[in-house]
Amino acid sequence: MNANIRRANIRDLNGAIECEVSILKSLYGILPQIYVDESISYLKSLAAKRDFESKILDSSYVFLVAEKAGEIVGIARGFLEKGGVGWLSFIGVKPSHRKKGIGTALLRRFIDELSSLGAHKISLYTSPVLIDAVKLYARLGFIPEGFLRKHFYGIDLIHYSLFLYSQ
Ligand SMILES: CC(C)(COP(=O)(O)OP(=O)(O)OC[C@H]1O[C@@H](n2cnc3c(N)ncnc32)[C@H](O)[C@@H]1OP(=O)(O)O)[C@@H](O)C(=O)NCCC(=O)NCCS
Repeated sequence: MNANIRRANIRDLNGAIECEVSILKSLYGILPQIYVDESISYLKSLAAKRDFESKILDSSYVFLVAEKAGEIVGIARGFLEKGGVGWLSFIGVKPSHRKKGIGTALLRRFIDELSSLGAHKISLYTSPVLIDAVKLYARLGFIPEGFLRKHFYGIDLIHYSLFLYSQ
């Protein structure tokens, strides 16, 4: 795998944004163009930079990066909601670094971090067209527990959850 999975620090700010932009660009032709365009345009804004900065500096927010030879090549980030439910807000690996175990390592570390914070369940929304993501979640034990048809931007979504232990 050869990538270092670690918490992001403020020096990663620009690299993390550039990484998410590159991942989103890879979704043209898979997700609606307007969604990808708007997401990229937001990521390039000052508001996004401030938002990423505050998330990186917030120790209760789990912002993980995969770094290889000084380059941020993958990201997993999310948070613990009140009541013990963790949310994975974003996971992705730059296209040229995929299928080398980095996504799996990021998700495993994310689960460990959320578990340490006290999560009993980790949830996420994904789309059935994101086949590699769906395979990754299933492989690590996430199960579908809900479906949102034609949700934002008309995208079908699956609500996947991983149950860490029974209450
Ligand atoms: C989903 C995503 C994060 C997976 O990242 P990844 O780094 O490719 O994931 P991994 O390498 O750990 O696993 C991917 C596959 O490569 C395989 N693999 C892992 N290491 C490997 C290696 N050394 N050699 C060959 N194959 C390998 C895994 O077994 C897995 O196979 P499978 O898809 O048949 O189950 C990535 O595809 C991505 O960024 N997609 C776009 C963004 C996205 O959809 N995000 C989720 C939004 S909800």
